Amino acid sequence: MPKTNSVWLETDYPAQFNSLRENVRTDVCVIGAGIAGMTTAYLLAREGRRVIVIDDGRPGCGQTGVTTAHLSDEIDDRYHEIERLHGRHGARLAHQSHRAAIERIESIVQLERIDCDFRRVDGYLFLGPEHGVEELDRELEAARRAGAEVTRLEEAPVQGFRSGPCLRFAGQGQFHPMKYINGLARAFVAAGGALHSGTRAVDVTGGDPAYVKTADGYTITADAIVVATNVPFNDLFAIHTKQAPYTTYVIAARVPAGAVTPALYWDTSDPYHYVRVQPTSNEQLGGDNRAAVDLLIVGGEDHKSAQADDMQDRFARLDEWMRARFPAAGDVEFRWSGQVMETQDGLAFIGRNPMDAPNVYVATGDSGMGMTHGTIAGILLSDSIVGRDNPWVELYQPSRIRTGAAGEFLKENLNVAAQYASWLTGGEVSSVDEIAPNSGAVMREGLTKVAVYRDERGDLHRRSAVCTHLGCIVAWNSAMSTWDCPCHGSRFDKFGVVVNGPARSDLGKLDD
Ligand SMILES: Cc1cc2nc3c(=O)[nH]c(=O)nc-3n(C[C@H](O)[C@H](O)[C@H](O)COP(=O)(O)OP(=O)(O)OC[C@H]3O[C@@H](n4cnc5c(N)ncnc54)[C@H](O)[C@@H]3O)c2cc1C
Ligand code: FES
Repeated sequence: MPKTNSVWLETDYPAQFNSLRENVRTDVCVIGAGIAGMTTAYLLAREGRRVIVIDDGRPGCGQTGVTTAHLSDEIDDRYHEIERLHGRHGARLAHQSHRAAIERIESIVQLERIDCDFRRVDGYLFLGPEHGVEELDRELEAARRAGAEVTRLEEAPVQGFRSGPCLRFAGQGQFHPMKYINGLARAFVAAGGALHSGTRAVDVTGGDPAYVKTADGYTITADAIVVATNVPFNDLFAIHTKQAPYTTYVIAARVPAGAVTPALYWDTSDPYHYVRVQPTSNEQLGGDNRAAVDLLIVGGEDHKSAQADDMQDRFARLDEWMRARFPAAGDVEFRWSGQVMETQDGLAFIGRNPMDAPNVYVATGDSGMGMTHGTIAGILLSDSIVGRDNPWVELYQPSRIRTGAAGEFLKENLNVAAQYASWLTGGEVSSVDEIAPNSGAVMREGLTKVAVYRDERGDLHRRSAVCTHLGCIVAWNSAMSTWDCPCHGSRFDKFGVVVNGPARSDLGKLDD
């Protein structure tokens, strides 16, 4: 059976740091030690700022640990769409910023000697079955106008995959994200930064000075605060109506070393498939020798979070899709899923938190490109905090509204409104006897709904199924064993403890 964990978290473990046990004063407090928070913190510490990072888990244990780590300057919503929404100048800035992010990662890897399998590869965009070559031509023109180094080919010059007509984006990148984050955390501490894992922020107050309160009752006083928790928990509405949570699935199969050319591969379908190759060894996969092996990592099958419960079918479709195109694919060793935040206009929200004091910053809306968006956040936010001009401020401004995105805004918010109807429907099961060990289901109890998890021993754990953000009903995610909210991306662990905002508090306890 494949492991139900990401290959990254199985092959390089998140480092642990002491939790915060005192009140402290600092220049900048960064909340969240994923790629966005760690890059921001590292760059500020390198400039001599006193920086404290807190994370309620460990560095990289959020979405950074379950990514596929394509480092790409081809925007996943495509340049023709980015140009429509942000104009030609905006598309050029978007390209420039993603390119700069790949370059920045490469320079940090070299400077800090981070051994994280970083390498430059080409990226190939090929046709999904529903598209003809005009789809590629449209993107070719828009990508060129944006400044991308892109060529049209009849076939990708690679081994192990017949792409058909495609676009080649030169100079993309890939790495092992956990090795990178652990290296970044070490470099941050070496530069004088303080990192605390197991420390949850529960409240943020901007102003002069600003404050962060932790769940353990300590206060961090700072000149500036960066909320890099993937989904901000310090904002009730402003950003959450402009982005939507999508769950995406990944499988990683053995292939003989060298059988598939290392590259980034994406198709034009919606949702699209994304593929890359990761070098590893038999030993790392639990074998008894060090022979080189590659993993073919294939992702896709996205759906709006908590609005589908057919994980097995989705993994099966990914498997079928992979085997039809990559004949060298062997046994699937890993499979996992995670969540991306899709913004209504295809780019992240990075900058000053809307309707807040000027010294509270956010980074969210990764749109499936969070490795580069997170690095852009590091560059942009560190520039803003030290008072340096940055050409991307307006493009990524969290308060922005692009008129071309009105349709997407309406569609997603009507979808959210429709979720409240589940207050009126029955439960997924009518008796706890229908809940298998190590799984969960939502049940109706009178006027409300209850999230019931049965552990391996058969014991039941009951919590209110009402999301503590704005009251939608959560659903069981069998791929990750979490309770996910279908509305704005909150996630709770199997016992109801909040692991992802915007909810700030755990699922409610029941009186029994
Ligand atoms: C399956 C999958 C494939 C992907 N593939 C790609 C790809 O190929 N390329 C790409 O660029 N992007 C990809 N992405 C997106 C990318 O992985 C994410 O966008 C990125 O990792 C997000 O980084 P982050 O720092 O914003 O968030 P996270 O990594 O989630 O970090 C946020 C941190 O905040 C902490 N936190 C949350 N709340 C609190 C709190 N209240 N107090 C303290 N700490 C808190 C969490 O513990 C977490 O460690 C993929 C995502 C998924 C799920
Ligand atoms: S995340 Fe907003 S209601 Fe649950």
